[in-house]
Amino acid sequence: MAKQLKKWQGWLLFAGAMVAVFLLGLICSSLLERRAEVASVFNNRRVQMNDSIVAQNEKFAEDFPREYQTWAMTEDTTFKSLYNGSQEKDVLEMCPEIVIIWDGYAFSREYNTPRGHRHCIEDLRKILRTGSPGVDGQTDMQPGTCWTCKGPDVPRLMREKGTNAFYAAKWSDWGDQMMNSVGCSDCHDARTMELRPARPALYEAWARVGKDVRKASHQEMRSLVCAQCHTEYYFEKENGNYLHFPQEKGLTCEAAEQYYDSIGFYDYIHPLSKTKILKAQHPGYEMSLQGIHAQRGVSCADCHMPYISEGGVKYTDHHIMSPLAHIDRTCQTCHRQDAETLRQNVYERQKKVITSPFV
Ligand code: HEC
Ligand code: HEC
Ligand code: HEC
Ligand code: HEC
Repeated sequence: MAKQLKKWQGWLLFAGAMVAVFLLGLICSSLLERRAEVASVFNNRRVQMNDSIVAQNEKFAEDFPREYQTWAMTEDTTFKSLYNGSQEKDVLEMCPEIVIIWDGYAFSREYNTPRGHRHCIEDLRKILRTGSPGVDGQTDMQPGTCWTCKGPDVPRLMREKGTNAFYAAKWSDWGDQMMNSVGCSDCHDARTMELRPARPALYEAWARVGKDVRKASHQEMRSLVCAQCHTEYYFEKENGNYLHFPQEKGLTCEAAEQYYDSIGFYDYIHPLSKTKILKAQHPGYEMSLQGIHAQRGVSCADCHMPYISEGGVKYTDHHIMSPLAHIDRTCQTCHRQDAETLRQNVYERQKKVITSPFV
């Protein structure tokens, strides 16, 4: 027979339950408040943007100070690793054999290692590949297409002038239009700050194999914003130097070569051997896909744009650079080994591919 609860015990249970419900409510409402705070940054922006492309990076500084400030740090050139780093180094001096191998091609004039995104416009302006007379004696031999991976003025101009006209113009035609280096509107829709690659060439390459960039997963987007620039490409010479990513047959080196052979494309004819030469540009996206990290779903941003936690706020580090500069926030979010072991893992692999005695 069930024992009857005494009256006071019933009231105690009731009161206890009420307190518990009240506390739960408090926790929920504070959680919602935190989420509302985050959402309000996006909804109540002081600098309202009604356009998907806003080229001036400074306009984002007030609403997104942490992302803006870390982005601005790509100016910094101090970090050095064994083979890379954020300094500009003269590759032709380090590997003089390249001067002969690339003879007849603009890269044999000047070729430097990359540094932070904030330098990309000044570096393109000063490089001997763009301004000086071509091998054939022509001046201003480069087309507008050469600006494509340099910043958010590019999608802005493509919209204003049309993509075809943007590529087909002379390189010098857009000189006075290029003020903003790789920035917010290259990777984000300025209205919502959602990830969105701005370059049509990536959408076109995917469409040719029946895929839609807009349907890519969020994790894929964390690589695709990089893949719109860090990739292999060529200019369709007979089609106003239209930019084309040769991904029709796949994303391996062999697949690209097969595609180039199928259309009879080559970059230049070597003056000594009279051989047609293909020179890869910077297939960072394709190379990355061959490795175990991409195969396990690790994105470019996981290693190059780690999170920073600051007083309870977690945000994405926009100082894109070598992940070896802060192994604690990059590799060690997934690996338990100590920083030195992880650094050596990278160096061991690099030593196997770097063969020049001058590096
Ligand atoms: C709009 C084109 C563009 C986009 C988008 C872009 N990059 Fe770059 N990136 C460049 C250019 C151009 C350079 C070379 C700049 C120079 O040397 O002046 C560069 C340089 C770099 C460097 C060298 C930096 C250093 O300090 O040595 C890294 C690393 C890098 N990019 C990674 C990324 C990653 C990761 C993403 C995506 C999250 C990305 N980039 C998106 C164009 C782009
Ligand atoms: C090369 C690509 C790239 C550029 C340039 C870039 N971002 Fe981002 N941004 C990202 C990625 C990747 C994330 C991570 C998004 C995610 O995973 O949801 C991100 C996240 C953000 C977020 C979400 C909050 C956070 O910190 O995670 C904001 C806000 C933001 N960026 C603002 C900016 C601003 C402002 C600029 C220009 C000063 C900028 N971004 C430039 C790629 C870029
Ligand atoms: C698993 C981590 C990891 C992922 C994922 C990754 N990278 Fe890297 N990346 C590195 C390391 C490590 C280096 C070499 C840095 C060094 O030597 O200082 C590097 C170097 C680079 C460089 C050359 C920097 C220089 O100074 O020359 C570029 C550009 C780059 N990565 C772009 C990308 C892009 C684009 C993606 C995505 C398609 C990507 N990375 C994905 C770890 C990663
Ligand atoms: C987002 C998680 C993540 C990050 C960040 C990450 N890794 Fe990895 N790493 C993985 C995964 C997953 C594997 C595959 C392991 C497996 O499936 O057995 C892997 C494999 C490896 C391997 C062994 C595979 C091989 O043969 O190449 C090494 C070495 C390695 N990572 C080093 C690094 C270094 C160095 C960094 C920083 C520059 C780094 N990882 C950043 C997740 C990550």
